[in-house]
Amino acid sequence: MRHVLLLLPLVLLHIPIVTHAAAIHDAATKGDVAGITAALDAGAGVDESDGKATPLYLAVKGGHFAAAKLLMDRGADVNAVPTPVLGPPLMPALAKRRIDLIKLLLDGGANPNSKRSRESAIHIAVNLGCLDCVKALVEAGADVNAKTKDGKTPIHLARFKGLREIADYLMAHGVVLPTPSPISMKLATADIEKGRTSFTHLCAGCHNVEPQGGTKTGPNLWSVVGRDKASMTKMRYSDTLLGWEGVWTYEDLNKYLLEPMVTTPGVYMEMPGVPDETERVNLIAYLRTLSDKPIPLP
Ligand code: HEC
Repeated sequence: MRHVLLLLPLVLLHIPIVTHAAAIHDAATKGDVAGITAALDAGAGVDESDGKATPLYLAVKGGHFAAAKLLMDRGADVNAVPTPVLGPPLMPALAKRRIDLIKLLLDGGANPNSKRSRESAIHIAVNLGCLDCVKALVEAGADVNAKTKDGKTPIHLARFKGLREIADYLMAHGVVLPTPSPISMKLATADIEKGRTSFTHLCAGCHNVEPQGGTKTGPNLWSVVGRDKASMTKMRYSDTLLGWEGVWTYEDLNKYLLEPMVTTPGVYMEMPGVPDETERVNLIAYLRTLSDKPIPLP
């Protein structure tokens, strides 16, 4: 009896709040416009989380345009992120490729650069192969050069997946492919032994360098300097590398190795690259030695 008396005030206090909260989340999930209105009028918070998501997120996830619009008209925060792995309401709109919802949210101030765990909205749109989603995001100001946590740009993802229309659109809308400053003149004074050590740490897992060594994940790199690009018969190369004309010069290696996925998007060599110039120069000087007859230094 004593327990019941103690609990009674708590129960009385909690029931109405819990009910409104449950009601608005329930109505948002179902797209029940009348139910949402009733819950809001009864005092439910428009951005109240059910522990994971806001009513707007739930309405978008359910694909309910009218419910989403109502919640926005009633002041819902389009960028609320109660749970970082889920991200803001833009994410389920993208996942469903619902252009109407994507535009509703973006027009209502949704951040076109918003993120979910490792990637931005534009990466999700490219991965879905949704050109209209990419366009809506870019028109709203999304950064076309944004990188995922592991360094992938939207143009890299598009080319890697062979999504030509999306790749062309991105190229026409601000993609920047960095080119490092020339290094050829620095090769003569490079430290070949340091280059060998870097190679062991960064490259040897995927590349053989012995004359008779076979293909690993990547092609054999014996005699790679001066060799025709993407020319090892046993290797299945990316369209990007197959489409890059000419032999491997020092400067082409410099550009490629800086950040392969960013300088030469679409490559199958998905590693961060060698951003430090001195280390890159040492590495290229070492690659030059992998030959019976190393080509002359400039
Ligand atoms: C995760 C595996 C991996 C790592 C690590 C890696 N590569 Fe590669 N590499 C590849 C693959 C796969 C290709 C083929 C790329 C393509 O077809 O787009 C490649 C291609 C190349 C090529 C072009 C060869 C040709 O036949 O045209 C060069 C040069 C190269 N890598 C150098 C390096 C160097 C130097 C490092 C270390 C800094 C390195 N790679 C690290 C996988 C890797």
